[in-house]
Amino acid sequence: MSEKTSRIQGFYKLPLEERLKIVAEFAELTEDEIALLKKVGNLELPIAERMIENVVGTMAYPFAIAVNFLINGKDKLIPMVIEEPSVVAAASNAAKWARAKGGILTSSTGPTMIGQIQLTNVRDPWNVKLKILEHKSELIRIANEQDPTLVSLGGGAKDIEVRVIDTPRGPMVITHIIVDVRDAMGANAVNTMAEAIAPYIEDISGGRVLLRIISNLADRRLVRARTIIDKNEIGGEDVVDRIVDAWAFASADPYRAATHNKGIMNGIIAVALATAQDHRAIEAGAHAYASRSGKYSPLTVWEKNSEGDLVGSLEMPMAVGLVGGAVKTHPIARIALKILGVKTADELGEIMGAVGLIQNLAALKALATEGIQRGHMKLHARNIAIMAGATPDIVDLAVEKMVQEGKVRFDRAKEIVEELKRMKSKV
Ligand code: MEV
Repeated sequence: MSEKTSRIQGFYKLPLEERLKIVAEFAELTEDEIALLKKVGNLELPIAERMIENVVGTMAYPFAIAVNFLINGKDKLIPMVIEEPSVVAAASNAAKWARAKGGILTSSTGPTMIGQIQLTNVRDPWNVKLKILEHKSELIRIANEQDPTLVSLGGGAKDIEVRVIDTPRGPMVITHIIVDVRDAMGANAVNTMAEAIAPYIEDISGGRVLLRIISNLADRRLVRARTIIDKNEIGGEDVVDRIVDAWAFASADPYRAATHNKGIMNGIIAVALATAQDHRAIEAGAHAYASRSGKYSPLTVWEKNSEGDLVGSLEMPMAVGLVGGAVKTHPIARIALKILGVKTADELGEIMGAVGLIQNLAALKALATEGIQRGHMKLHARNIAIMAGATPDIVDLAVEKMVQEGKVRFDRAKEIVEELKRMKSKV
């Protein structure tokens, strides 16, 4: 038998069926597995094939709705796509606590992205910096010629900034092109502009341009969200103190801050997936922003106000779009945006910030009180109880008993289910 190889020439040119045949042979997929891969849900294969290369199928994830969100005085249903249990329930629960004092209020800086042009081989970088700046208006004009539509919508290149940085290969001159991308995520517009002005920067400087690419540290495109949580909604002032202490831990310790921010991203990425955003860009921006002081820090702050209530705030980059990319091609993303009822990318970003803040609150409340496992255990216990044959009339009782005993196991679930069934049949 010949050795398996992943070196497959022209894989991308083959029809989907052929590609799938190759993968099936390579991985010894069964007929059932092949059929499952081919089974499309709400993303038809022709659309999937237009989105990325080498497609052999589609993969469905749960699409859920977090409820109870009141954002800027408006009730919002939040579409979330995620594989992790408890996230949607936790968000819905914590959003409820926020309602008593007016929900979540948001704002943002506007849709400004940064493109970087890397210039090397410069002997006099400080002089070159000034030369580039002297040509600012010309560079902005050239950039804007690339995207008249964006300019007609009020967007486009707005400014040029130049930095001299020290690198292991000597000083480099980095030009930033500052672009208002309106309702786009912005990578396409910014990259096109960066590439267009690069030759002019070479001419002006006599140096050599290398990279011309957007920066995912989108610190000109920040969203802000804040909320006040009535102490009585979460169990009183002691719980408020516990949550503030939990935040202080993250503020002082990067090991904790990483997990704290992971909890924030649970909510944000779930909305990003539902609305087909570039979630890697959002994730990269979030963590880079969290490190901006030189020390990795939490993206939220939790404090106690004079009434003893809990006050939370979040500030982070949010590069999202409503036009271009998968947002327009994925039919479910369009439905998700309709559910959210957003008209601008700023609005979408702000909602995502609000979800991140609330998701963080849900995690901190659980961690600082009963611990995170209790909620997880409940879900786990429910799955196990159903697997053990629990019918809808006894499933809650079975779950409660297993959690109470601290024994969330199939063998115990079977015993409990049988016992409960016997009891039910007697009454
Ligand atoms: C789990 O997905 C997220 C948490 O670990 C977040 C946190 O610790 O704050 C619960």
